[in-house]
Amino acid sequence: MNSVVLIIFCFASTLAVRFSDQEHSAAESCTTSNCSPEDGCRCASSNSPLGSSQIIPQFISLTFEDAVTEDLYTTYWEPLLFNRTNPDGQRIGATFYVTHQYTSYERVNSLYNRGYEIATHSVTKTVLQDYWRAASEELLIQEFGGQKHIISKFANIPAEDIQGVRTPQLQLAGNRSIQAYKSSNLSYDSSWPTLHTNPLFPYTLDYLSTQQCTLGNECPTGSYKGFWILPIVDLVGDFGECNTLTSCKTSGTADEIAEWLVGEVEAIRQSTRVPITLLVDSSWFQVVVNSWQGFNKALNTLATYNDVYFVSQKQVVDYMKNPVPLAEFRTDVENRNAACNAVTCMLNKETDIRYMTSCIPCPIVYPWLGNPDGNA
Ligand SMILES: *[C@@H]1O[C@H](CO)[C@@H](O)[C@H](O)[C@H]1NC(C)=O
Ligand SMILES: *[C@@H]1O[C@H](CO)[C@@H](O)[C@H](O)[C@H]1NC(C)=O
Ligand SMILES: *[C@@H]1O[C@H](CO)[C@@H](O)[C@H](O)[C@H]1NC(C)=O
Repeated sequence: MNSVVLIIFCFASTLAVRFSDQEHSAAESCTTSNCSPEDGCRCASSNSPLGSSQIIPQFISLTFEDAVTEDLYTTYWEPLLFNRTNPDGQRIGATFYVTHQYTSYERVNSLYNRGYEIATHSVTKTVLQDYWRAASEELLIQEFGGQKHIISKFANIPAEDIQGVRTPQLQLAGNRSIQAYKSSNLSYDSSWPTLHTNPLFPYTLDYLSTQQCTLGNECPTGSYKGFWILPIVDLVGDFGECNTLTSCKTSGTADEIAEWLVGEVEAIRQSTRVPITLLVDSSWFQVVVNSWQGFNKALNTLATYNDVYFVSQKQVVDYMKNPVPLAEFRTDVENRNAACNAVTCMLNKETDIRYMTSCIPCPIVYPWLGNPDGNA
């Protein structure tokens, strides 16, 4: 008798958890009646969170997705970013999606202490699209949760400050990606492009997403309560619809490159004001002549607008949860002081050697998929 009651009780409580979480249920469509901001829910839409009568800031998130190397840090990022401020006088934000190989965790630690957002971009950054499309949930946890663990441990930054994720080449693997992200305690994704004709504000996956899946991969259709998608609104570049700066702009003088980018920002600023995510790949700076100078010029021009704010993607999510008119907006800059006793480690990666600068004593072997601690 008692055990029957117990079984029924367990079954009922499992059901209750399932329903309250809304995970793995077929996602219903999102409407303003079932999805309200008070519950932390937002539908995919190009409507401002404050309606059309209020002016909101135009956000731009500069996002980087390379290994954080000594060279990229000192050659490109430091002179581009470190002395810039927003209209409220605070330092600008930006997001670094960090991949593992060749990354200096000492430099990751200093980016973090300077107030930039650190996010996860996989351990291997494998170049084959099919690898990501076919990846199991378990592999995706090792890639994204594993890299979150590696960053947190070797750059000595709190794991709870790593909330964002971008999958290499924007190849989401449908529901499996979001399930893996949730298992890794990540709370938003920036891997899903949307056509420039369909600009969208960030939204949650509580209900079925209406965002088009444009890259030939599988996009999530499940329901994931409170998980945010930050759509990447395509730009229009030399060859039409594009998202990485390398694929958008392949030639021009610095002035032409700057004019193009400011024009792309203006098109959005004069219409929906959806947040703009720029995928600033360092190969652009390395390969396209004048690109760094042109980009720097564009940032200088945009810095003269009193409604344009350069923020991290975390700051965009925070804003969406608590939107205010432009006049009341202030960027929130934390003081951070994560310690780093930098050591350079020479480590075995199977038969190869990798050098890794770490903020804590060296691991035994090079940290990798399935062994993020680098144990023997
Ligand atoms: C930032 O500004 C300070 C003071 O003007 C200057 O000394 C420093 O070199 C600048 N740093 C960069 C990276 O431009
Ligand atoms: C996720 O967060 C929960 C609660 O804070 C914690 O118990 C769990 O260990 C975390 N999981 C991972 C994979 O970090
Ligand atoms: C994703 O999850 C939804 C909701 O559970 C389900 O209807 C859909 O079939 C899943 N997609 C795939 C490809 O498994």
